[in-house]
Amino acid sequence: MNYPAFLPPARLLMGPGPIDADPRVLKAMSNQLIGQFDPKMTECMDETMALYRQVFDTQNRWTFLIDSTSRGAIEAAMVSLLEPGDKVLVPVFGRFGHLLCEIADRCGALVSAINTEWGSVFSPDVIQREIKSTRPKMLAIVQGDTSTTMLQPLKEIGEICREEGVLFYCDATASIAGNELKTDAWHLDAVTVGLQKCLCGPSGSAPITLSERAVTIIEERRHVEAGIRDENIVDGPGSRIASNYFDLAMIMDYWSEMRLNHHTEATSMLYGSHECARILLEEGLTESIQRHRVNGHALAGGLTSMGLKLYGDQNNRMHNVVGVYIPEGIDGERLRHIMLLEFGIEIGTSFGPLKGVIWRIGTMGYNARPDAVLKTLACLEQCLLSEGFKLPPGAAVAEARRTYAASTIS
Ligand SMILES: Cc1ncc(COP(=O)(O)O)c(C=O)c1O
Repeated sequence: MNYPAFLPPARLLMGPGPIDADPRVLKAMSNQLIGQFDPKMTECMDETMALYRQVFDTQNRWTFLIDSTSRGAIEAAMVSLLEPGDKVLVPVFGRFGHLLCEIADRCGALVSAINTEWGSVFSPDVIQREIKSTRPKMLAIVQGDTSTTMLQPLKEIGEICREEGVLFYCDATASIAGNELKTDAWHLDAVTVGLQKCLCGPSGSAPITLSERAVTIIEERRHVEAGIRDENIVDGPGSRIASNYFDLAMIMDYWSEMRLNHHTEATSMLYGSHECARILLEEGLTESIQRHRVNGHALAGGLTSMGLKLYGDQNNRMHNVVGVYIPEGIDGERLRHIMLLEFGIEIGTSFGPLKGVIWRIGTMGYNARPDAVLKTLACLEQCLLSEGFKLPPGAAVAEARRTYAASTIS
């Protein structure tokens, strides 16, 4: 029998993520495995913690990786910080706000959600008012919700949470490295992310950082599993964390000097995460954010010059993903398929009320590059023309090139 190897086709991933991984990350991930307690392995874990402190802009000692996709880290943060009956406030401005509600609810928390129209974000006053009326233990919010392309400003919300004694959790999966995120300066107590957007990697490892306040809560709930405990282990006085896999107290023991074995570390993802952070820090955080800003701006300008309308409040848009209305009379899914199957370029659809209404086009991580943006615009123009949409030929690419000519990135 012949079992052919799977060979993925050549694609340019210009959707809301995942994106093409940086070849350096793929190369790092192809390195041979080493043992879980090999000094070189634990050295790599320690180095990864130090690198991600810089990525998160934090001094937090507890900055490490969860072996899962991004939602696993959300689940780990919530199940470890929240006990049944705890109150959580979630401002929802897109699909991933609903995900935070869903996960908090499954942890047994009492969830209050507040909503704003999709395509907009919350003002700090609204959040302050809700905190005062609901008195939650935690405020949980998404920074950049790829479903709507909106970026929620966090600085003032952090100050409010600190004043009101509320734990501040943020899902920055889609925004980190492409938009400013200041964990310590903005008083964030827990932040979780993923590699598959602006960090240039595949999904499957989810970096997390925890403040001292968050760590204190988690340590009170430490209950080490039977097979690995010894007489020196003292459990905390709090209730046991309901998940074993996502028990942050036990995962922290594994990443600490104790090296108490929890799961088998996903070694190839560790290598990949380590390389993602190195690539980012070599470029510089500020430079990476600026690169995403310029490429997002070039893309948005090109789309507008084609006669298309952008979705949502452009003053609060993420740098790395642009929403654009599908013009009337155009079959959005048919056009996406032509782009994918004839040109090898993937762009995204959206969810819920935006499904079939907007396309989402990403310029993130390894693909936040002028050549990727220019190709995508040229291809979209060709597809729209062939579907009968009237537009000024060549205007989109010309506008994007003007943006690049006026910027300092190349
Ligand atoms: C803001 C946000 N949060 C969470 C997730 C879920 O990530 P994953 O699919 O890696 O679990 C995504 C994925 O796109 C996201 O954009």
